[in-house]
Amino acid sequence: MAHFKIALLPGDGIGGEVIGQAVRVLDAVGGRFDHSFEYSEDLVGGASIDAHGVALRDETLEMCQAQDAVLFGAVGGPKWDDPKASVRPEQAILGLRKGLGLFANIRPVKMLPILADATPLKRETVEAVDMVVLRELTGGIYFGEPQRRWEENGQRQAVDTLAYSEHEVERIVRLGFETARARRGLLTSVDKANILDTSRMWREIADEVARDYPDVTLEHRLVDACAMDLIRHPSYFDVIVTENMFGDILTDEASMLAGSMGMLPSASLGASENGSTLGLYEPIHGTAPDIAGQGIANPMAMILSAALMLRYSLGLEAEATAIEDAVTDILAAGHRSADLAGDGDEPLSTEALGNLITDAVAGG
Ligand code: IPM
Ligand code: MG
Repeated sequence: MAHFKIALLPGDGIGGEVIGQAVRVLDAVGGRFDHSFEYSEDLVGGASIDAHGVALRDETLEMCQAQDAVLFGAVGGPKWDDPKASVRPEQAILGLRKGLGLFANIRPVKMLPILADATPLKRETVEAVDMVVLRELTGGIYFGEPQRRWEENGQRQAVDTLAYSEHEVERIVRLGFETARARRGLLTSVDKANILDTSRMWREIADEVARDYPDVTLEHRLVDACAMDLIRHPSYFDVIVTENMFGDILTDEASMLAGSMGMLPSASLGASENGSTLGLYEPIHGTAPDIAGQGIANPMAMILSAALMLRYSLGLEAEATAIEDAVTDILAAGHRSADLAGDGDEPLSTEALGNLITDAVAGG
């Protein structure tokens, strides 16, 4: 029997509701495949600010470092939204990414045919969507120094810094090529090379790395044009690789192609050591304060994030597929969460969906 240690960081809003269902599904995986999962839970984000005055404590980061993987819900909410506050919930996720060295954010966007009518786009446009967006996660304007505000001549001033080093670009671009090689072989590198020096360097490095991957087609696109093409012809894309902030924006956009943000998992990975990769797994939907506490959040992105954890950090491919198949099956059987429900659909609660997926996983 294999034993795995998992950090659980529910965070705020619907985080706790959805992570609870992911744990039930993981335990069902454990029962069926003979693994055991041991969980260590802690507060992060607004919940940690309320209890400890900071969004992420050092001991929480250390606890995570000692686990095989981290499951993360979401952080933030109106209660902590004061833009003047020096302590903000988002510092938790940024601190975890940086502190755990999670430089690669993997966001698969695959249209489940059954949901093709749940997107605001035409069925023909989204039907064949199947892409992976790779976002650089520990560099760029999110972390560059200086970042500060001051006053000059009675005017408010502010600066943020967009900086990248060769090493940071090389490793994420290389992962892009590896990912594309295992898929359809098309890598779209997204930048703003007509304006930014960081982008011109990014392009140069991507072209250099491309020599090691003659089997992959590399193309460069400007981020604004790419944003347009994601709507115009989304099924064209295979693997997109881009810097931190462009990736933040494009992945929210791309999420609409998959029916609902409530469906999209993500993995944030660091470098592999001795064949194992510490990773943090989170749904991309955020805390959804408008529906928090009502028990109606869609737990599927969180559950699918747990599947990515099994695949990327724990090396349990069959177990990951079992979860993904269970989700596909309950959707095929017509079950819907509130965010996916169409006319005539009776939306199920977070827990009811968790029950169905848990049973499907347990039963095989
Ligand atoms: C995301 C989120 C985060 C980001 C926030 C919560 C800091 O939008 O994971 O995409 O901007 O990276
Ligand atoms: Mg975002």
